[in-house]
Amino acid sequence: MSTITLAIIIGSVREGRFGPVVANWFADQVDDRFEVDLIDLADADLPHALPATSPMFEPDPVRPAGMRDLSARLAAADAFVIVTPDYNRSYPSALKAAIDWHYTQWETKAIGFVGYSGASGGLLAIEHLRQVFTELNAHTVRDYVSFPRYYLLFDEDGRLRDPEEPAAAATALLDQLHWWTSALVAAKTAPVVA
Ligand SMILES: Cc1cc2nc3c(=O)[nH]c(=O)nc-3n(C[C@H](O)[C@H](O)[C@H](O)COP(=O)(O)O)c2cc1C
Repeated sequence: MSTITLAIIIGSVREGRFGPVVANWFADQVDDRFEVDLIDLADADLPHALPATSPMFEPDPVRPAGMRDLSARLAAADAFVIVTPDYNRSYPSALKAAIDWHYTQWETKAIGFVGYSGASGGLLAIEHLRQVFTELNAHTVRDYVSFPRYYLLFDEDGRLRDPEEPAAAATALLDQLHWWTSALVAAKTAPVVA
């Protein structure tokens, strides 16, 4: 297939967050099979009060003006990589709001994860996100990148002290995303056989 549009989503929005460092590192690992769109949820208006009808049943609800850019970029993406920390053994609420305000934008797309945090390295957030994305009829890929105690792994300039292993993990994740996205796009364009 032609180049895949890969949206890399920065899932944390708090002041002083580390998320952009991890997301930029991952964006640098992406090869020319993909075109990257780096999405920062901090740029979007993401109210917790959701529309009256679930976006599964009303795919185009009235959304705040400050969410329009995000919605369009999610819709344009063929695949996603979510960059998430663990917050109390789960993922940030801004990410949940971004997910719940949309449905078709995620549906039948491949999704991978890059996690970071203290001891748990984002894995608890990732496992919760896998459950959530199943309900959105999306496919989460097996491989992931995890940075437990990320503050020991990155230096003060935001560079990995030992980049080889994470780079290999990123390649494995990208290979799976490419395979699944190619398969899903082919399936969506194939003629339906009765
Ligand atoms: C509200 C909150 C809850 C957290 N819970 C966990 C946790 O359950 N496990 C963990 O390993 N780290 C936890 N941390 C540490 C974060 O993963 C770490 O601060 C990380 O930098 C957060 O990502 P951010 O800087 O992009 O916001 C928590 C941090 C915050 C602010």
